[in-house]
Amino acid sequence: MFPRNSALLALVLCSCQTTLFSTSGAMLTGTQYSNRISRERGNILKNLTGTQEYENHIVTSSLDASEPVRMMYRGLREVYHRILGPTGMRDEGVSLQPRIPPYVPFPCDVRGYRSPTPPTSVHQLRPGDFDVVAALGDSLTSATGANSRQFWELLIDNRGLSWCIGGQETWRTHLTLPNILKEFNPRIFGYSFADSYNVHLPSQFNVAEIIATTSDMPYNAASLVERMKADPRVNWHKHWKLLTIMIGGNDFCSDVCYQTNATQWINRDQEKYLLTTLHYLKKVMPRTLVNLVPSPLINLSFSIDKVQAPFTCQFVRPVECSCLYGPKYSSKRNLYRQLERRFVKIMEQVSHRAEFHSNDFTVVYQPFYRDASIFHRRDGKPDLSIMAIDCVHLSQKGHAVSANGLWNNMLEPTRQKTTVLRELFEDFKCPTPENPFIKTYYNS
Ligand SMILES: *[C@@H]1O[C@H](CO)[C@@H](O)[C@H](O)[C@H]1NC(C)=O
Ligand SMILES: *[C@@H]1O[C@H](CO)[C@@H](O)[C@H](O)[C@H]1NC(C)=O
Ligand SMILES: *[C@@H]1O[C@H](CO)[C@@H](O)[C@H](O)[C@H]1NC(C)=O
Repeated sequence: MFPRNSALLALVLCSCQTTLFSTSGAMLTGTQYSNRISRERGNILKNLTGTQEYENHIVTSSLDASEPVRMMYRGLREVYHRILGPTGMRDEGVSLQPRIPPYVPFPCDVRGYRSPTPPTSVHQLRPGDFDVVAALGDSLTSATGANSRQFWELLIDNRGLSWCIGGQETWRTHLTLPNILKEFNPRIFGYSFADSYNVHLPSQFNVAEIIATTSDMPYNAASLVERMKADPRVNWHKHWKLLTIMIGGNDFCSDVCYQTNATQWINRDQEKYLLTTLHYLKKVMPRTLVNLVPSPLINLSFSIDKVQAPFTCQFVRPVECSCLYGPKYSSKRNLYRQLERRFVKIMEQVSHRAEFHSNDFTVVYQPFYRDASIFHRRDGKPDLSIMAIDCVHLSQKGHAVSANGLWNNMLEPTRQKTTVLRELFEDFKCPTPENPFIKTYYNS
């Protein structure tokens, strides 16, 4: 069977790697939609299985907008996905969360946490008040490879398991933010419910795309808004929307080493992309709370450095994260790490800007990923179970742990937010009659 042919995998991986090389700075200059493309035109295997629902135009680089690359890369991924998938249904393995049996109740009392009438202020939202969830991001949000057991399965997006936007099954098997929110409001929608790429129906309002960087956010935000507005279920002005944006890992895995002046790039350009995205969202999205989340990718990678990584990781990491693992750039590693820490600060500062806060819209920086590292067992031995087999992406358990972290952050006041990953259910916050609201900068 061809997937076992590692030469092919190398080809596929390399073709995605090629698309990493340039991100479109063009997005901010000139016409914002200049490299908008139709996936239909480019994909030789279009709508192969009749499941491609969204005629979407998400691109991750100007190279991806070139027809030959798109035909080969997206076409191959489509076939690949069909032949190897689904993997998201697997229910046993060390990197899956433990199943919570039916006799264990949900940790929080859910009664009274949906307002009788929709609140008019974003600073008075109870967990059950969200009607719609959505997400922007990269392969950590598309849950790429979360349930993979073999390296050739790493190209499958297990979107149903994604920490902030997956909604496959329930919190008992898949702790995700939507599966938590479902307990408070069973009618919530927009979450991904199965393995899929972002053009497939099960992806829903998860437009995350592998390899996306901060520079892709203005464009992908517009795609998301287009998709949501076109959906007849969405009441744009009435529904409360929860949008999680986590981005930045690929900036440092795949982009930073191609910049002529990386320091300048971080300080000058990256903030601009964030600001453009948030200004746009603030302008077009009524009734929205945005979670702005830093990527754990770099901190996690560094925490694995001290560990004897399995063979698969040593093979795949230089491909997936060439700026940090490519031997050519090893002398710059510490500089890139400092710049990454700087970028996380920029993200926090941006979230505090007054123009992003009103009664109708707010941004909250959620830092639970900021100082993430792999777990350690009691005897001090490293525990890689939150990582997928490539040591770059998160496993299903990693997604569950992340969902727990994000949920806690949403209920923690501004200056008391957790900045590390904790074991699953070690600490699971609940709203209380005294503190019923999702925390924002204005009600903390
Ligand atoms: C793909 O096929 C399905 C089923 O035939 C159809 O409903 C859908 O509109 C098609 N998608 C696109 C983008 O053409
Ligand atoms: C990069 O740009 C900064 C100004 O932002 C400058 O101070 C620095 O010298 C430049 N570094 C290199 C290597 O050119
Ligand atoms: C992650 O980041 C924090 C804050 O910068 C740092 O203190 C911690 O040591 C980092 N962990 C690893 C493993 O690099």
